[in-house]
Amino acid sequence: MPFCTTDPNLRNDWLTVGAASQLRQVSAARPVSARLLGNDLLLWQDDAGAPHCSADGRALPIICRYDYLWVHTGDGPAPALFELPEFAQPGRRIVDCGGIGVATSGLRVVENFLDIAHFPYVHTGTLGKVPHTEVAPYRAVVDPAHGEIWATECHFFQPRASASAGDGIDAHYRYRVMQPLTAALYKTCPNRAGEWDVIGLFVQPLDQEQVIAHILLVYDEDVLPDAEMIAFQHTIFGQDKPILESQRPRRLPLTGSLEAHMRCDLTSTTYRRWLHQRGVTFGAHAQPLP
Ligand SMILES: [Fe+2]
Repeated sequence: MPFCTTDPNLRNDWLTVGAASQLRQVSAARPVSARLLGNDLLLWQDDAGAPHCSADGRALPIICRYDYLWVHTGDGPAPALFELPEFAQPGRRIVDCGGIGVATSGLRVVENFLDIAHFPYVHTGTLGKVPHTEVAPYRAVVDPAHGEIWATECHFFQPRASASAGDGIDAHYRYRVMQPLTAALYKTCPNRAGEWDVIGLFVQPLDQEQVIAHILLVYDEDVLPDAEMIAFQHTIFGQDKPILESQRPRRLPLTGSLEAHMRCDLTSTTYRRWLHQRGVTFGAHAQPLP
């Protein structure tokens, strides 16, 4: 079966097919399957532990980075994968929170990840709390060197910013979009001033309206067990999932006035404009002809 899109933004990117741990003890004789862009892939590792991938009877480039598997489905040369230097920083806790299926466009999942304004209403008591609803002005720009979106100087009152946060704090955030379906959040570390915890969001597009959202924690955290850190993220994402799945259209409108925006949505409007300028069609709402 061919891939369901020719959108070069997706076909030329490295796309995740999940955590590398799924290939433990998986040989070529009994590969595992994974879904990507409407196609079925086979995955396995060789005797040296290197990952392999095939689709439609041909081998596809696959690499393991940040404990995740990344596949390149395009015909041209693969670009360099984004850098995440904190992953190799000594003392960091690396916790894979696994994947959560969401019935919507991956672009909607990334846009929601970038949104601060919904915290008091959707993540009441943890990431936000009424009446602390105001989003202070922040910056969002496209970094000319790497073409990535960076939103900086974001801050927001959070009653419980992470699983290990004791009291409410004015949490500082930075957001980064590396690829249309790959983003990272840098947030104040509650227990270590000056350090940033990193949450990676790696979206695996099964098709245009079905994804698996993978979450990887790269934390300065030395108190909590993995299970509590994972449970906190699953609670937060479990609050986002029904809202994401209720949004219509499922595919993200990139232009026009289908959805109104305010100043607090600067990151969202920057993301949509960035996608539009790149000519992204996969997971995007087709505009009606004038
Ligand atoms: Fe949320």
